[in-house]
Amino acid sequence: MKKFIKRSGIVLTALAALIIVLLIVVYFQTEARLTKVYAPPTDALTIPDDAESIANGKHIFQYRGCEACHGEQLEGKVYLEDPAVGKVIAGNLTRGEGGYGASFADADWVAAIRYGLRPDGTPLLFMPSTEFYYLSDDDLADVIAYIKSVPPVDHIQPTSSLSLTGRAIMTLVPAITFVPAELIPMADPRPVAPEAEVTAEYGAYLSMSCKVCHGLTMSGGVIPGMPSDWPPAPNITFGGGSALPTWTEQDFINALRTGFTPNKKELRAQYMPWNSYKFMSDDELRAVWLYLQSLPELGYGNR
Ligand code: HEC
Ligand code: HEC
Repeated sequence: MKKFIKRSGIVLTALAALIIVLLIVVYFQTEARLTKVYAPPTDALTIPDDAESIANGKHIFQYRGCEACHGEQLEGKVYLEDPAVGKVIAGNLTRGEGGYGASFADADWVAAIRYGLRPDGTPLLFMPSTEFYYLSDDDLADVIAYIKSVPPVDHIQPTSSLSLTGRAIMTLVPAITFVPAELIPMADPRPVAPEAEVTAEYGAYLSMSCKVCHGLTMSGGVIPGMPSDWPPAPNITFGGGSALPTWTEQDFINALRTGFTPNKKELRAQYMPWNSYKFMSDDELRAVWLYLQSLPELGYGNR
């Protein structure tokens, strides 16, 4: 018995030592990723200050979901607070106390929104720049014009940080995008944005965010990286098992405006962010509808 206790003691000590070594490795590996200094391209954008551009910037800020994460007054919000992952704060973008607007130059806004970077070149956490990278120069400039125009709000927040288990998840679960800057093709030529018209092509430009959940092919399925209590995303191509072939264009517009499908099923806004998409104009939603119709008709779950 004594021997057994002694032996299992040795095994446990060795196991504890192994775990400590692994945690140290995880810490330093993630630290290298989080403190990496990127050199984004310097895009010469001219930021307008006329009322029309500012109004368009606000419109984009709303339907692209910036407002849902950064707040209606751009005052900043806690994006995630979970001891298993850490504390991640979508910042106060205004010129008020604790706001980035007080210190950001135009190039800093571009680096943050388009490339997911802080002014010192280190990467932001979870800020979905992989999507905003595709915003045209004009749309991005209008968004920045809007941010610069809003009244200051005093709101001091803590800085974002990951817990040790958050760092372990960051290492072990590559399907969750902790560091969007890692996925942005900074060295490639800028993608050309389509004209703002009711076309499938423009619909694709408006639908970048849908793919995070509905999959690159839009055929739906379990959403990678989401907690297990999340519903899977439905198929929104016109293929097998999709509800959309029975919908009219107006049904689609209503669903994304009101959160109710034609058969009165509620789309829960905490999973399907229609309360951002509701800000799209009729023409914008029509373009998205055309785009969904243009996709290969796949069966459910061929993400
Ligand atoms: C899913 C939530 C989410 C959405 C949508 C989002 N952001 Fe962020 N954003 C964040 C988080 C989280 C951070 C900060 C991450 C950190 O501290 O590492 C951030 C950072 C920023 C920063 C750098 C200043 C700061 O807060 O650290 C700017 C500027 C910014 N976002 C602008 C935008 C704009 C403009 C849009 C829409 C085009 C947008 N964001 C959409 C979550 C979001
Ligand atoms: C954050 C994840 C997420 C994003 C982003 C997202 N969806 Fe969804 N979507 C869902 C989920 C989950 C459901 C099912 C919601 C429910 O059952 O309450 C859903 C449901 C739908 C439905 C209803 C389909 C049906 O069969 O009832 C449509 C249409 C839809 N989404 C279109 C879109 C479009 C278009 C976009 C982009 C503009 C988008 N979604 C972006 C997660 C998402």
